[in-house]
Amino acid sequence: MLGSDITISAPVLSEYIERIHQAAGVPSSTARLVADSLVAANLRGVDSHGVQLTVWYIERIRTGDMDPCAEGRVVSENGCVVVYDGENGVGQRVSEICCGHAVRLAAQHGVAIVSARESNHFGAAAYWAQKMADAGQIGIVMCNASTIVPPWQGRAPRLGTNPICMAAPGPWLLDMATTTVAMNRIYKAHMDGYARIPDGWAFDANGVPTTDPAAAIKGMPMPLGGYKGSGIGMMVEILCSVLSGGAKREDVCGIHVQGRKARASQFFMAIDVARFMPVAEFTARLTQLVDYVKSSPPAPGYDEVMVAGDPEWRMDAERRAHGIPLGRGTWDKLAEVAARAGVTPPEV
Ligand SMILES: NC(=O)c1ccc[n+]([C@@H]2O[C@H](COP(=O)([O-])OP(=O)(O)OC[C@H]3O[C@@H](n4cnc5c(N)ncnc54)[C@H](O)[C@@H]3O)[C@@H](O)[C@H]2O)c1
Repeated sequence: MLGSDITISAPVLSEYIERIHQAAGVPSSTARLVADSLVAANLRGVDSHGVQLTVWYIERIRTGDMDPCAEGRVVSENGCVVVYDGENGVGQRVSEICCGHAVRLAAQHGVAIVSARESNHFGAAAYWAQKMADAGQIGIVMCNASTIVPPWQGRAPRLGTNPICMAAPGPWLLDMATTTVAMNRIYKAHMDGYARIPDGWAFDANGVPTTDPAAAIKGMPMPLGGYKGSGIGMMVEILCSVLSGGAKREDVCGIHVQGRKARASQFFMAIDVARFMPVAEFTARLTQLVDYVKSSPPAPGYDEVMVAGDPEWRMDAERRAHGIPLGRGTWDKLAEVAARAGVTPPEV
């Protein structure tokens, strides 16, 4: 793979990222959480939402666009619903608190929704939904993002890449942007010097489909599956910014932009499986469904059928055993940020 010339173990990488965040003024428990969430994404092969984000997170702290120490506050708790104001704190810290409320209230009421506003980028949604699944619950997590996606039949951006994720106690986890791919995959392809990205990923700034990463990062990601992706992107927007009372689309800011708060809204829903049946029975039933789906004979050109979560769990096992490959561009950018913070990179 082009540019994959560093291999590093997860614990060493995590410690490095934690030190960079600490040096930038992030409290140590939050620095550890951010590092763990980013390295978890790398382990799963979701490199677009891995440690490369450190570069942007630290820049946002340096410019004062994100408050590394804010914890946020509960605006209201009413039955099984919490509205949370992240007060521009680190997205991972806000999400950790919100997940905690969702798990607590779902155990109490059977189901819970935590609606967060004024948050920051929380990395890959899977990290948060998995926390709920680990608690024996079904976790549904969504997030709005800056308006960089044109609606179906439009040429100006009106929606974000708005990820949607569901995890459950069992062998299935769906985590996807509502664009063909997350914009950070396009940024990463550019950062690591790829000559082209696949058809169907992006438009250039004029709304013309492009495979040139440089044109794509100045352009727009394509909505997933045409008007259906636009519709799901709207659904995420309604459950995130509209429901939370959060910032409107045009006021939500991407991590690559300077001088503005992110103002992201997030949605955390937990369903307590034990209210329906014992968790072990649910897991067995989910496993039967997964096995049934996978029993489909592979189509020509494929060796097997997978379900959501399979590629990432396989990669996780592989990278825990053999280390995480990082592109030279990503590694060098991290080293620049580390040097400015007086942090020495680990030997690789
Ligand atoms: N924080 C944010 O603002 C933000 C915004 C957008 C996306 N994201 C994150 O970006 C990440 C990447 O999103 P993406 O849409 O590029 O992911 P993707 O396209 O790589 O994968 C999407 C889903 O498809 C499943 N999948 C992949 N190949 C499969 C196959 N052959 N068979 C069956 N299932 C398969 C995966 O398991 C995954 O659940 C996600 O973690 C998402 O949360 C975050």
